[in-house]
Amino acid sequence: MALISFEHLSIAFDSDQGRVRAVQDVSFSIEPGQTVGVVGESGCGKSVTAMALMGLLPRPDAVIEGGAIIFEGQDLLALRPRQMTDLRGNALSMIFQEPMTALNPVLTIGEQLMEPLIRHRGESPRGAWQRSIALIGEVGLARAESLMHSYPHQLSGGMLQRIMIAMAIGCRPQLLIADEPTTALDVTVQAQILALLRQQAERNRMAMMLITHDLGVIAQMAQHVVVMYAGRIVEQGPTRRILEHPLHPYTRGLIASRPLPGQRRRRLYSIPGQVPDLSALPAGCAFAGRCDMAADRCRQSVPPLVGNRARQAACFFSSPVTEAESQERHE
Ligand SMILES: Nc1ncnc2c1ncn2[C@@H]1O[C@H](COP(=O)(O)OP(=O)(O)OP(=O)(O)O)[C@@H](O)[C@H]1O
Ligand SMILES: [Mg+2]
Repeated sequence: MALISFEHLSIAFDSDQGRVRAVQDVSFSIEPGQTVGVVGESGCGKSVTAMALMGLLPRPDAVIEGGAIIFEGQDLLALRPRQMTDLRGNALSMIFQEPMTALNPVLTIGEQLMEPLIRHRGESPRGAWQRSIALIGEVGLARAESLMHSYPHQLSGGMLQRIMIAMAIGCRPQLLIADEPTTALDVTVQAQILALLRQQAERNRMAMMLITHDLGVIAQMAQHVVVMYAGRIVEQGPTRRILEHPLHPYTRGLIASRPLPGQRRRRLYSIPGQVPDLSALPAGCAFAGRCDMAADRCRQSVPPLVGNRARQAACFFSSPVTEAESQERHE
């Protein structure tokens, strides 16, 4: 059974330019212990989807137009703020895109690590101190005692990211959302942080929603991938299937625009054109303006996401159904 199910989630923002459709009809689920990667260009709705799950959408600007996020049989969107506070940082945890926004500059690392342990786990200050020291070790940092007395500005970016992970896993969450957990870090630190997250997921059977625009990170970490474009899911399925046989032209573009090992000199493809304005979306497929396959039909109506729960794509020209048919023809 799924740990978390997004069901037809739609979220908009009211702005001076009109209603911005940030997330539209998004449905996917995450199993216990599973890592689901969410990819897509900047502004496609990845963080807004995550914030909705954490109950952290900026109100009143954000409007939930419809849908549900089911966790343990209840709709998180219908919970009272108090109930959501109990889940947040406890069963559901998040590592934010910018560590400095999540850490309080005037509190020590120790105070910030201990707080959720005392609040959610009912630990004594002494117990919380000891557990924090252990957590700092778990995320691979030395000199835990002295770090406990440090302030965020005294730490490097890589150290802060590890502290954020320590805070996020402190209460042994069932689901961790990692929103671009390594974007701000250099490549060697990036690899260490990813290894650390994977180890945590395996050791504690923790599910992860991993948001990134790096398909290399997805390939290493996620069993399932959700590809978003202009607020909608355009394709989803098992990571290997998607990377080897992408169905949606946008996914194909994404894959073609990333460097592959051993192909350093290859000229990278870049998808022509720009993401449409989310407050003035076209009537048809949002990708049509950039797609070399687009026909009249694509400009007239939005292609539905078709397939089964395991593999779906939203393109009139390549669906999991036509792919299966063409495979049969070749056999
Ligand atoms: N506070 C806000 N007010 C108005 N519009 C917003 C707000 N937050 C997000 N949006 C809109 O929602 C869209 C999706 O934003 P989101 O932060 O989810 O993008 P993202 O996929 O996480 O991008 P990135 O890769 O850059 O982090 C944006 O294009 C933006 O127009
Ligand atoms: Mg984001």
